[in-house]
Amino acid sequence: MTSDLSSERLTEWHGVPRVRLATLPTPLERGPLVGNGVRLWVKRDDLTGLGMGGNKARKLEFLCGDAVRNGARALITVGAGQSNHCRMTAAAGSLLGLETHLVLAGDRPDRLEGNQLLSDRFGAHMHFTGAGPSEWGVLEIAREALTDELAAQKLAPYSIPIGGSTHVGALGYVLAYDEIVEQCTSTGFTPGAIVFTSSSGGTHAGLVAGRAWRRALGLAHPPVIAIGVAKGVVAGFPSVEQLANEALHLAGLPGRVEAADVEVDARWLGADYAIATPESTDAADWAALTGAWVLDAVYTAKGMAGLLGNAADGRWASGDNVVWIHTGGQPEVFVHHD
Ligand SMILES: Cc1ncc(COP(=O)(O)O)c(C=O)c1O
Repeated sequence: MTSDLSSERLTEWHGVPRVRLATLPTPLERGPLVGNGVRLWVKRDDLTGLGMGGNKARKLEFLCGDAVRNGARALITVGAGQSNHCRMTAAAGSLLGLETHLVLAGDRPDRLEGNQLLSDRFGAHMHFTGAGPSEWGVLEIAREALTDELAAQKLAPYSIPIGGSTHVGALGYVLAYDEIVEQCTSTGFTPGAIVFTSSSGGTHAGLVAGRAWRRALGLAHPPVIAIGVAKGVVAGFPSVEQLANEALHLAGLPGRVEAADVEVDARWLGADYAIATPESTDAADWAALTGAWVLDAVYTAKGMAGLLGNAADGRWASGDNVVWIHTGGQPEVFVHHD
């Protein structure tokens, strides 16, 4: 049984169930000039509020809307040991009165830190698999097995794939794209690009779907550039184009995403997911000293390195405005690394 609170929060957007979890709209901050005189703007999606914020709050509004509408009594999801998505799902579960189970990479540590500490505080059950952080296949199989177990216990689980990257979750970033472009318009400019960090592809799918929707309506629709930080997404898995078109279809929105709309800049990943690069370390230092923006080593530091690298390469002209979405991840900063 979900709490009264969850039913109170249940709304709809274009006929699709949504629970309000995020503090929106998030601020758009004017940053410095970068590269050859490009104005940086930072969209503060690290300030979405839910369980210390981040991009997943927007996806979880639709995923949990689906769960609540379908009478789920538990949430299950999966991720790397320090998954932000898992921490925010735990926060959503706590808020909505849904028992939450997290299938995590790695082993249970002696002392919980960062996202795990917060997930524990939000009351989530953490299931450590021993899998490596990039072993998504192993993790997903473990999620499916746990889903079957909880279903057999009549817990009516709602099971969410890695990163919440389904067409349902992507709807959160369809709305975000529109929010960003409208904020820019009311500030007096149309951005030359919207740049952000991509890992499981759902944020990307939502953004390009939002762009296709606005394009179909004849509205301003700046390009979207994903900075890939996981091997899957830089290799084209999942299909961002397919997820995006499914999201448009689900909400009955006009527009179509084509392969040419999907750009993943793979040059900033380095050796692998969660392994810092010299550029990402420099970008995190630069952001802290320039805008007091706190970037995490796994996601946003590489995303910002990508933006700064593209600006330095002269991708945009002097006087252009570029929006970088800060997708969150700050709890990682408090994790002790040997
Ligand atoms: C801080 C942060 N930024 C970016 C992303 C990437 O989002 P997506 O998985 O939708 O590609 C994640 C995903 O876990 C994240 O936690």
